[in-house]
Amino acid sequence: MPVINVNIPDEGYPVKLGSGVIEQLPKLINRATTGGRLFIFYDAQFYVLHRAYLKKNIKMPEHRLFEMVLPPGERAKSLTTAKKLYEVLLSEKINRSDLILACGGGVTTDLVGYTAATILRGIPWGAVPTTLTGMADAAIGGKTGVNHHLGKNLIGVFWQPQFVLCEIRFLATLPFRQLVCGLGEIVKYAGLTGGNMLAEMNAYLARCDFYDFNALTALIAMGIKYKAGLVAMDTRDNDRRRFLNFGHTFAHAFEKAAGYGRLLHGEAVILGVAAALETGYLLKPSLRKYFKPYQLLVNQMMQLVPSCRIRLTDVLNALAWDKKNVAGKNKYVLLSRPGKPFITEDPGREIIKKVLKKILLQYQSAGG
Ligand SMILES: NC(=O)c1ccc[n+]([C@@H]2O[C@H](COP(=O)([O-])OP(=O)(O)OC[C@H]3O[C@@H](n4cnc5c(N)ncnc54)[C@H](O)[C@@H]3O)[C@@H](O)[C@H]2O)c1
Repeated sequence: MPVINVNIPDEGYPVKLGSGVIEQLPKLINRATTGGRLFIFYDAQFYVLHRAYLKKNIKMPEHRLFEMVLPPGERAKSLTTAKKLYEVLLSEKINRSDLILACGGGVTTDLVGYTAATILRGIPWGAVPTTLTGMADAAIGGKTGVNHHLGKNLIGVFWQPQFVLCEIRFLATLPFRQLVCGLGEIVKYAGLTGGNMLAEMNAYLARCDFYDFNALTALIAMGIKYKAGLVAMDTRDNDRRRFLNFGHTFAHAFEKAAGYGRLLHGEAVILGVAAALETGYLLKPSLRKYFKPYQLLVNQMMQLVPSCRIRLTDVLNALAWDKKNVAGKNKYVLLSRPGKPFITEDPGREIIKKVLKKILLQYQSAGG
């Protein structure tokens, strides 16, 4: 079973991944709690489906346990919910020998990680991501936060967990659409890493057995290894970690233009990756020949994105304000080859418009 270490000086932690890793949870908790209590926060859906199984594996006496179910959905990732969690934790007199455990998808790990980071200036926390997006991306790297009505993830802090445990069996109950969202991030990693991951992803898609645990474990492990390497080099997202935004400048704009909730983030990432590739080809047409297998893979993934109406002007407007734009200009992560990302300034409205026209047309005819 893969163990990947996120090697940040003084803040490093293991990521355990595979089928049956849940059995290692008591050991990880004991190492992190120093005899204190365990505060578990659950995603509502996960609670219904898997709480009994998780609890059986925690093996913690009741008097050291506190459990709470979070309100469902992205809307719960807010300061309002964080405030409710502060109330509960403070009335329970949480202290630094205790551990907070987040069990759920990216919404849960972002919100609970943020609460852990900010209460009493930082309580240790562990992450049990239960969606593909959570395992491959959100729970790794210590970016925690909540949304603001002016935009997503605008309030947050870096706070690394003590461990991340990805029990692959939890994915069995994940709805297909959510699985595709996670695959969006995996396709992004496949472009960033190239080589083996591309081949592995191609083989996985060709088999059409989307819930194949072995294949998913291998793909998630490759993605986490890549992300962990960047996080270790650039914990605060000032430099190379920004490669992880490959496809994301476009993705945020697609998501916003479609209307939040219509096109899910991971689905938008698939379109965003396609747009980033197209931008590269327009800037340097000779690049296209290096991307045949990757382009095929991205095209296949586009067919899994549900169709939804997106207007070109709305995407262009949305691109005018991206959280990560510096001094009014968007930055784009592009690839010069699979496995060779670079960051470039905004190539200009005309190029971006051409790219978007092509991708939206392709999506309208290919989108599933
Ligand atoms: N911190 C980061 O680095 C980072 C990276 C990527 C995404 N994110 C954030 O992650 C969030 C998206 O994460 P997500 O896609 O996991 O969404 P999510 O947490 O909303 O989970 C998606 C859905 O799956 C359900 N679910 C969770 N586990 C399940 C299981 N095992 N079986 C069945 N259903 C299950 C949830 O109830 C929910 O309805 C966004 O808020 C995004 O901003 C953060």
